[in-house]
Amino acid sequence: MKTLVIYYSFTGNNSKLAQKIAMSINADIKEIKEKKNRTILTILLDVLFNRIPTIKDFDIQFELYENLIFVAPVWFGKIATPLRALFKELNVKIEVYSFVSISAGTNGEKNSNLEKELMQRTGLMPKAVINPLISEILTANPKPSRKQLDAYRLSDTDAHDLVKRVLP
Ligand SMILES: Cc1cc2nc3c(=O)[nH]c(=O)nc-3n(C[C@H](O)[C@H](O)[C@H](O)COP(=O)(O)O)c2cc1C
Repeated sequence: MKTLVIYYSFTGNNSKLAQKIAMSINADIKEIKEKKNRTILTILLDVLFNRIPTIKDFDIQFELYENLIFVAPVWFGKIATPLRALFKELNVKIEVYSFVSISAGTNGEKNSNLEKELMQRTGLMPKAVINPLISEILTANPKPSRKQLDAYRLSDTDAHDLVKRVLP
């Protein structure tokens, strides 16, 4: 089955994970790039006002792929907003897709609304939603602070181990 990995990353973690996933399963890979500079403030405004940021031309022949894997961070409980423009277009173009994210968790807990958001934005049930948390990678004792979770950058070794967990 031909697979395309589509990813967006703000600080690099999900980019690294997406590339390892694509390499492991020999999938094609494509990055979502935004037209405007991303800041913490625009993350907040996108989420608060349900905005759909503009992305650079995304020239993909979706009919070539039977399976899509989206990889992106979670922001304030929502899937990173640059994916929204693409999700909007997708419902006529795809049948099988999954969502993967390495993220910090919402107050240390799993992000519980990802599947629901995907359903709302694509009109399609995802095959899988996989959201390993950074706290599961860092040592549990002492419990990592919010600052440590935000500052964490995925190492090659951790990315390698994560891929084994993420892929069936
Ligand atoms: C403004 C902001 C809000 C965030 N909110 C969440 C959240 O609600 N849930 C979560 O799991 N992680 C959250 N995170 C953590 C990121 O998802 C995490 O750092 C991720 O690995 C970053 O991915 P990237 O390096 O690919 O951009 C947030 C990060 C930022 C900067």
